Amino acid sequence: MKEVVVSGIRSTGNLHLGNYYGALSKFVKMQEDYDCLFFIADLHALTTHPDPRILHSNVQDILAEYLASGIDPEKATIFVQSDVPEVSELYLLLNMHVGIGELMRTASFKDKARKQLGIKTGNEKDDDEDIERQIIGTNSNKRVNAGLLTYPTLMAVDILIQKAQKVPVGKDQEQHLELTRRFARRFNSFYGVDLFPEPTNFNFGDHAVKVPGLDGSGKMGKSEGNCIYLVDDEKTLRKKVMRAVTDQGPTEPNQPISQPVENLLTLMELTSTADVVEHYRKAYADCSIRYGDMKKQLAEDILKITTPIRERYLEIRNNDVYISKVVKEGAERARERAAKTLHEVREIMGIRKFY
Ligand code: ADP
Ligand code: TRP
Repeated sequence: MKEVVVSGIRSTGNLHLGNYYGALSKFVKMQEDYDCLFFIADLHALTTHPDPRILHSNVQDILAEYLASGIDPEKATIFVQSDVPEVSELYLLLNMHVGIGELMRTASFKDKARKQLGIKTGNEKDDDEDIERQIIGTNSNKRVNAGLLTYPTLMAVDILIQKAQKVPVGKDQEQHLELTRRFARRFNSFYGVDLFPEPTNFNFGDHAVKVPGLDGSGKMGKSEGNCIYLVDDEKTLRKKVMRAVTDQGPTEPNQPISQPVENLLTLMELTSTADVVEHYRKAYADCSIRYGDMKKQLAEDILKITTPIRERYLEIRNNDVYISKVVKEGAERARERAAKTLHEVREIMGIRKFY
């Protein structure tokens, strides 16, 4: 029997190179050897209140991007989270075994709560106290929604309801995965059953990738405004790369590489050939580097990856019939397995029908 793989991406906008290397490219490889289910996490997207008028088209965008990137509905199950209502029911049941405290200590919760409350990041400890005070306080125009708090429960359910063993995600999701394992262990031991496997992250190399942004610091992310999108047209993409932050240029041989330049080299390592990267590392070391040339090369190499994806995306995006067919079949498959697990959980917890 093949191992089961589950992963999803929230429908909060177009996918970027970070999503591609952190998640999508792994999905495409894994579908060859595993029993894969890939979905669009539209319920998770609700935690940050997307505009209802664009949520559905965001879901459609990501579906088209999944397909354009090479996820094959003949090999993997592709579905939309909200098409599997069993997930919402198990979410309620599992929440009975999840602590408010452990959810409040999750890094992503603190981060998003801070944003919703308008707290600027400063001293972590002060921030934490501030967050707690403001959450239970009575200032009625500031509120952190409970869905955000229970985000990890919902994610655990996505994984556990399919009894997945492997979950390909980027580094930023590792804490959520750790909670998923904890919830699985807790449920199994509370009821003395062996229902849920404990899932692990999956990487083809030995470490989770973190794709940097073009602004010189941190990771590429939708909310950071530093992204290269898979569907950026050629002109936009070149412009973004040419404007990427660098430094003044090395002034002495062999000086340490600055963060913004290292970021561009990291992007090159993902998209260019080894000799190209080697060439620019050497050029930095002997001070002959020309950032203009380097960026031109980088844009060229990124385009080699994104252009075919973009072309396929444009073909698929407006093919409603095809997209509907893919998600309908996907939902049927995902629901069949989810219903089976939900039935088992209800039995275990003592929720039984009289009729
Ligand atoms: P964003 O951070 O842009 O909102 P998501 O949180 O929706 O993206 O992430 C979807 C998937 O892509 C996750 O598996 C996440 O780990 C991965 N991912 C997102 N950004 C990056 C990045 N810069 N590097 C590596 N993986 C990433
Ligand atoms: N939390 C993930 C993210 O922000 C998305 C997600 C939801 C997910 N449910 C999942 C990822 C289940 C893997 C498995 O990227």
